[in-house]
Amino acid sequence: MTEEVDIKTMKLYNHVERIKNELKARDMLQSESIDPIELSEIDSMHYEGNDAIEDAINAMKLTQSSTVLDVGSGFGGISRVLCSKSECKATALELQKDISDMAKYLTKKCKLDNHISHEVGDILSFNLDKLGSGKESYDGIAHETIRAQYPFPVS
Ligand SMILES: C[S@@+](CC[C@H](N)C(=O)[O-])C[C@H]1O[C@@H](n2cnc3c(N)ncnc32)[C@H](O)[C@@H]1O
Repeated sequence: MTEEVDIKTMKLYNHVERIKNELKARDMLQSESIDPIELSEIDSMHYEGNDAIEDAINAMKLTQSSTVLDVGSGFGGISRVLCSKSECKATALELQKDISDMAKYLTKKCKLDNHISHEVGDILSFNLDKLGSGKESYDGIAHETIRAQYPFPVS
């Protein structure tokens, strides 16, 4: 059994279609582009919403020349809000391919695909040197408990 199947059997995060249903209900599915802040009302799976992301931007002193690794990025909401507010770049690493595929679709809808690259993989085994320009190129990492941010590299 693969890790991707394992996490699905846990009945966690197995609601990919919910996002499209929510977009449809809000008339956002056919929109030419979507505002990532508006989207964060439905794509976010972390605590304390965008306030926590603002704190992360300040803690990591993110600017347009910064690059962040978003671990367990889910639908990519943290990366999109980080990038839209600070103009930084991000790599969004997500274990589950279907969720990562949806994240990529949403990022394109938000016209942030030149800021965010989506990768499928397990942070516990992923070769971080194969991410972006390598692990030394990241200025910070963010993860679902977004209040915990660390300068990169971490031990
Ligand atoms: C609570 S969700 C948070 C998603 C997103 N960061 C957010 O706040 O909206 C946790 C995500 O981490 C992913 N995940 C869990 N273990 C992982 C691992 N070892 N490597 C990469 N992603 C992982 C899950 O598939 C899930 O999408």
